[in-house]
Amino acid sequence: MSEVSRPSITEPRTAVVIPAAGRGVRLGPGAPKALRALSGTPMLVHAVRAMAASRFVSLVVVVAPPDGAGEVKSLLDAHALPERTDFVVVPGGQTRQESVRLGLEALPPEYDIVLVHDAARPLVPVDTVDAVIEAVREGAVAVVPALPLADTVKEVEPAAEAGEPEPVLATPERARLRAVQTPQGFERATLVRAHETVTDDVTDDAGMVERLGERVVVVPGHEEAFKVTRPLDLVLAEAVLARRRLNDGF
Ligand code: C5P
Repeated sequence: MSEVSRPSITEPRTAVVIPAAGRGVRLGPGAPKALRALSGTPMLVHAVRAMAASRFVSLVVVVAPPDGAGEVKSLLDAHALPERTDFVVVPGGQTRQESVRLGLEALPPEYDIVLVHDAARPLVPVDTVDAVIEAVREGAVAVVPALPLADTVKEVEPAAEAGEPEPVLATPERARLRAVQTPQGFERATLVRAHETVTDDVTDDAGMVERLGERVVVVPGHEEAFKVTRPLDLVLAEAVLARRRLNDGF
Protein backbone atom coordinates (compact mmCIF):
# COMPACT_ATOMS: atom_id res chain seq x y z
CA MET A 1 0.00 0.00 0.00
CA SER A 2 1.44 3.37 -0.95
CA GLU A 3 1.95 6.08 1.67
CA VAL A 4 -0.69 8.76 1.41
CA SER A 5 -0.02 12.05 3.17
CA ARG A 6 -3.14 13.15 4.97
CA PRO A 7 -3.91 16.56 6.37
CA SER A 8 -3.51 16.63 10.13
CA ILE A 9 -6.74 15.75 11.89
CA THR A 10 -5.77 17.84 14.91
CA GLU A 11 -7.49 21.21 14.69
CA PRO A 12 -5.39 24.15 15.90
CA ARG A 13 -6.72 25.24 19.28
CA THR A 14 -7.45 28.88 20.01
CA ALA A 15 -7.16 30.76 23.30
CA VAL A 16 -7.82 34.43 24.04
CA VAL A 17 -5.87 36.66 26.43
CA ILE A 18 -7.91 39.63 27.69
CA PRO A 19 -5.80 42.35 29.33
CA ALA A 20 -8.16 43.94 31.85
CA ALA A 21 -5.72 45.37 34.37
CA GLY A 22 -5.93 49.05 33.36
CA ARG A 23 -7.36 51.71 35.69
CA GLY A 24 -9.15 53.55 32.90
CA VAL A 25 -8.37 57.01 34.25
CA ARG A 26 -9.74 58.72 31.08
CA LEU A 27 -13.21 57.40 31.99
CA GLY A 28 -13.16 59.40 35.22
CA PRO A 29 -12.92 58.26 38.86
CA GLY A 30 -14.34 54.89 39.94
CA ALA A 31 -13.71 51.16 39.66
CA PRO A 32 -11.09 49.79 37.21
CA LYS A 33 -12.51 50.29 33.71
CA ALA A 34 -13.12 46.60 32.96
CA LEU A 35 -15.31 46.27 36.05
CA ARG A 36 -17.63 49.18 35.24
CA ALA A 37 -21.16 48.26 34.30
CA LEU A 38 -22.65 48.54 30.83
CA SER A 39 -26.42 48.05 30.97
CA GLY A 40 -25.97 46.43 34.39
CA THR A 41 -23.23 43.93 33.39
CA PRO A 42 -19.49 44.56 33.90
CA MET A 43 -17.66 45.53 30.71
CA LEU A 44 -15.27 42.61 31.20
CA VAL A 45 -18.15 40.10 31.25
CA HIS A 46 -19.39 41.50 27.92
CA ALA A 47 -15.85 41.17 26.51
CA VAL A 48 -15.45 37.59 27.76
CA ARG A 49 -18.84 36.61 26.30
CA ALA A 50 -17.91 38.24 22.97
CA MET A 51 -14.81 35.99 22.77
CA ALA A 52 -16.56 32.84 24.01
CA ALA A 53 -19.25 33.38 21.36
CA SER A 54 -16.77 32.05 18.79
CA ARG A 55 -16.99 28.29 18.40
CA PHE A 56 -13.21 28.20 17.85
CA VAL A 57 -12.38 29.66 21.28
CA SER A 58 -11.95 27.08 24.05
CA LEU A 59 -9.99 29.07 26.65
CA VAL A 60 -10.15 32.68 27.84
CA VAL A 61 -7.37 34.02 30.09
CA VAL A 62 -8.40 37.21 31.87
CA VAL A 63 -5.58 39.42 33.15
CA ALA A 64 -6.96 41.18 36.22
CA PRO A 65 -5.71 44.26 38.10
CA PRO A 66 -2.66 43.11 40.16
CA ASP A 67 -4.62 43.25 43.44
CA GLY A 68 -7.98 42.23 41.95
CA ALA A 69 -7.66 38.66 40.65
CA GLY A 70 -9.92 37.24 43.37
CA GLU A 71 -12.61 39.84 42.71
CA VAL A 72 -12.50 39.21 38.95
CA LYS A 73 -12.70 35.43 39.49
CA SER A 74 -15.84 35.83 41.66
CA LEU A 75 -17.33 38.18 39.09
CA LEU A 76 -16.90 35.65 36.28
CA ASP A 77 -18.27 32.87 38.51
CA ALA A 78 -21.35 35.01 39.16
CA HIS A 79 -22.21 35.48 35.47
CA ALA A 80 -23.40 32.84 33.01
CA LEU A 81 -20.67 31.95 30.52
CA PRO A 82 -20.71 29.28 27.80
CA GLU A 83 -19.83 25.80 29.09
CA ARG A 84 -17.59 24.79 26.19
CA THR A 85 -15.08 27.51 27.16
CA ASP A 86 -12.63 27.41 30.10
CA PHE A 87 -11.72 30.56 32.04
CA VAL A 88 -8.54 31.41 33.93
CA VAL A 89 -7.79 34.63 35.84
CA VAL A 90 -4.22 35.85 36.43
CA PRO A 91 -2.93 39.08 38.01
CA GLY A 92 -1.66 41.72 35.56
CA GLY A 93 1.21 44.19 35.50
CA GLN A 94 2.00 47.90 35.34
CA THR A 95 1.70 48.19 31.54
CA ARG A 96 -0.60 46.61 28.96
CA GLN A 97 2.44 44.87 27.44
CA GLU A 98 3.36 43.32 30.78
CA SER A 99 -0.24 42.25 31.39
CA VAL A 100 -0.38 40.48 28.01
CA ARG A 101 2.93 38.74 28.69
CA LEU A 102 1.63 37.47 32.04
CA GLY A 103 -1.49 36.18 30.26
CA LEU A 104 0.65 34.37 27.66
CA GLU A 105 2.67 32.71 30.41
CA ALA A 106 -0.55 31.20 31.80
CA LEU A 107 -1.44 29.43 28.51
CA PRO A 108 -1.28 25.62 28.48
CA PRO A 109 0.96 24.18 25.72
CA GLU A 110 -1.80 22.81 23.46
CA TYR A 111 -2.91 26.22 22.17
CA ASP A 112 -1.38 27.15 18.78
CA ILE A 113 -3.42 30.29 18.08
CA VAL A 114 -3.72 33.20 20.51
CA LEU A 115 -5.98 36.22 20.29
CA VAL A 116 -5.37 39.32 22.40
CA HIS A 117 -8.50 41.32 23.08
CA ASP A 118 -8.93 44.52 25.12
CA ALA A 119 -11.54 44.30 27.85
CA ALA A 120 -12.24 47.88 26.80
CA ARG A 121 -13.80 46.62 23.50
CA PRO A 122 -16.76 44.76 24.99
CA LEU A 123 -19.09 44.75 21.98
CA VAL A 124 -17.04 43.27 19.14
CA PRO A 125 -19.34 41.02 17.03
CA VAL A 126 -18.53 37.30 16.74
CA ASP A 127 -18.11 37.55 12.95
CA THR A 128 -15.11 39.83 13.47
CA VAL A 129 -13.61 37.40 16.02
CA ASP A 130 -14.10 34.50 13.60
CA ALA A 131 -12.62 36.44 10.66
CA VAL A 132 -9.42 37.06 12.66
CA ILE A 133 -9.15 33.41 13.73
CA GLU A 134 -9.80 32.16 10.20
CA ALA A 135 -7.04 34.34 8.77
CA VAL A 136 -4.56 32.87 11.31
CA ARG A 137 -5.81 29.33 10.58
CA GLU A 138 -5.15 30.03 6.90
CA GLY A 139 -1.51 30.83 7.60
CA ALA A 140 -1.11 34.49 8.64
CA VAL A 141 1.21 34.87 11.67
CA ALA A 142 -0.45 38.13 12.81
CA VAL A 143 -3.90 39.50 11.97
CA VAL A 144 -5.42 42.83 12.94
CA PRO A 145 -9.03 43.95 12.46
CA ALA A 146 -9.13 47.57 11.35
CA LEU A 147 -11.31 50.25 9.78
CA PRO A 148 -10.63 53.10 7.35
CA LEU A 149 -10.52 56.54 8.98
CA ALA A 150 -13.27 59.13 8.78
CA ASP A 151 -10.93 61.95 9.86
CA THR A 152 -7.85 63.17 8.07
CA VAL A 153 -4.78 62.64 10.29
CA LYS A 154 -1.89 65.09 10.81
CA GLU A 155 1.50 64.24 12.25
CA VAL A 156 2.57 67.09 14.56
CA GLU A 157 5.44 68.16 16.76
CA PRO A 158 3.72 67.72 20.16
CA ALA A 159 3.62 70.94 22.19
CA ALA A 160 5.34 71.05 25.57
CA GLU A 161 2.14 72.45 27.11
CA ALA A 162 -1.42 71.29 26.39
CA GLY A 163 -3.37 73.83 24.30
CA GLU A 164 -0.27 75.40 22.65
CA PRO A 165 -0.34 75.44 18.79
CA GLU A 166 1.50 72.40 17.38
CA PRO A 167 3.43 72.58 14.08
CA VAL A 168 2.22 70.09 11.44
CA LEU A 169 4.97 67.82 10.11
CA ALA A 170 3.04 65.72 7.60
CA THR A 171 -0.41 64.64 6.35
CA PRO A 172 -0.36 60.90 5.58
CA GLU A 173 -2.62 59.85 2.69
CA ARG A 174 -5.88 58.94 4.44
CA ALA A 175 -6.81 56.12 2.04
CA ARG A 176 -3.72 54.18 3.18
CA LEU A 177 -4.44 54.52 6.92
CA ARG A 178 -6.44 52.14 9.13
CA ALA A 179 -7.57 52.44 12.75
CA VAL A 180 -6.78 49.13 14.40
CA GLN A 181 -8.96 47.25 16.85
CA THR A 182 -8.86 43.98 18.75
CA PRO A 183 -9.03 40.99 18.92
CA GLN A 184 -5.66 40.70 17.20
CA GLY A 185 -4.79 37.12 16.27
CA PHE A 186 -1.40 35.41 16.27
CA GLU A 187 0.45 32.22 15.71
CA ARG A 188 1.35 31.64 19.35
CA ALA A 189 5.10 31.09 18.87
CA THR A 190 5.45 34.40 17.00
CA LEU A 191 3.61 36.41 19.67
CA VAL A 192 5.63 34.79 22.47
CA ARG A 193 8.87 35.59 20.59
CA ALA A 194 7.71 39.21 20.17
CA HIS A 195 7.04 39.54 23.91
CA GLU A 196 10.44 38.00 24.71
CA THR A 197 12.45 40.24 22.40
CA VAL A 198 10.68 43.58 21.90
CA THR A 199 11.17 45.90 24.84
CA ASP A 200 10.10 49.24 23.25
CA ASP A 201 6.84 50.68 24.45
CA VAL A 202 4.36 49.57 21.77
CA THR A 203 0.60 50.22 22.02
CA ASP A 204 -0.56 47.02 20.32
CA ASP A 205 0.65 43.45 20.04
CA ALA A 206 0.76 43.44 16.24
CA GLY A 207 3.19 46.37 16.48
CA MET A 208 5.55 44.13 18.44
CA VAL A 209 5.34 41.44 15.75
CA GLU A 210 6.11 44.09 13.11
CA ARG A 211 9.31 44.92 15.03
CA LEU A 212 10.36 41.29 14.52
CA GLY A 213 10.12 41.90 10.76
CA GLU A 214 7.17 39.50 10.44
CA ARG A 215 4.27 40.12 8.06
CA VAL A 216 1.15 41.50 9.75
CA VAL A 217 -2.14 41.62 7.81
CA VAL A 218 -5.34 43.59 8.31
CA VAL A 219 -8.89 42.22 7.97
CA PRO A 220 -12.07 44.33 8.12
CA GLY A 221 -12.93 45.46 11.64
CA HIS A 222 -16.35 46.55 12.88
CA GLU A 223 -17.71 49.85 14.15
CA GLU A 224 -19.12 48.07 17.24
CA ALA A 225 -15.58 46.98 18.19
CA PHE A 226 -14.80 50.57 19.34
CA LYS A 227 -12.79 51.09 22.52
CA VAL A 228 -14.60 52.43 25.56
CA THR A 229 -12.20 55.15 26.65
CA ARG A 230 -14.13 58.31 27.53
CA PRO A 231 -17.47 58.90 29.28
CA LEU A 232 -19.28 59.43 25.93
CA ASP A 233 -18.19 55.93 24.83
CA LEU A 234 -20.24 54.49 27.72
CA VAL A 235 -23.35 56.20 26.32
CA LEU A 236 -22.63 54.80 22.84
CA ALA A 237 -22.01 51.28 24.22
CA GLU A 238 -25.31 51.31 26.10
CA ALA A 239 -27.10 52.49 22.95
CA VAL A 240 -25.59 49.59 20.96
CA LEU A 241 -26.73 47.13 23.65
CA ALA A 242 -30.24 48.65 23.68
CA ARG A 243 -30.45 48.27 19.87
CA ARG A 244 -29.32 44.64 20.11
CA ARG A 245 -31.96 43.89 22.74
CA LEU A 246 -34.61 45.47 20.52
CA ASN A 247 -33.45 43.49 17.46
CA ASP A 248 -33.33 40.24 19.48
CA GLY A 249 -36.93 40.89 20.52
CA PHE A 250 -38.16 40.46 16.94
O1 C5P B 1 -5.37 52.06 28.45
P1 C5P B 1 -5.89 51.36 27.25
O2 C5P B 1 -7.32 51.72 26.94
O3 C5P B 1 -5.00 51.39 26.04
O4 C5P B 1 -5.94 49.82 27.69
C1 C5P B 1 -6.23 48.80 26.77
C2 C5P B 1 -6.45 47.50 27.52
O5 C5P B 1 -5.26 47.11 28.23
C3 C5P B 1 -7.57 47.61 28.57
O6 C5P B 1 -8.41 46.47 28.43
C4 C5P B 1 -6.80 47.64 29.88
O7 C5P B 1 -7.52 47.07 30.97
C5 C5P B 1 -5.56 46.81 29.57
N1 C5P B 1 -4.40 47.13 30.45
C6 C5P B 1 -3.84 46.10 31.24
N2 C5P B 1 -2.78 46.36 32.08
C7 C5P B 1 -2.30 47.62 32.20
C8 C5P B 1 -2.86 48.69 31.41
C9 C5P B 1 -3.91 48.40 30.54
O8 C5P B 1 -4.29 44.96 31.17
N3 C5P B 1 -1.32 47.85 33.07
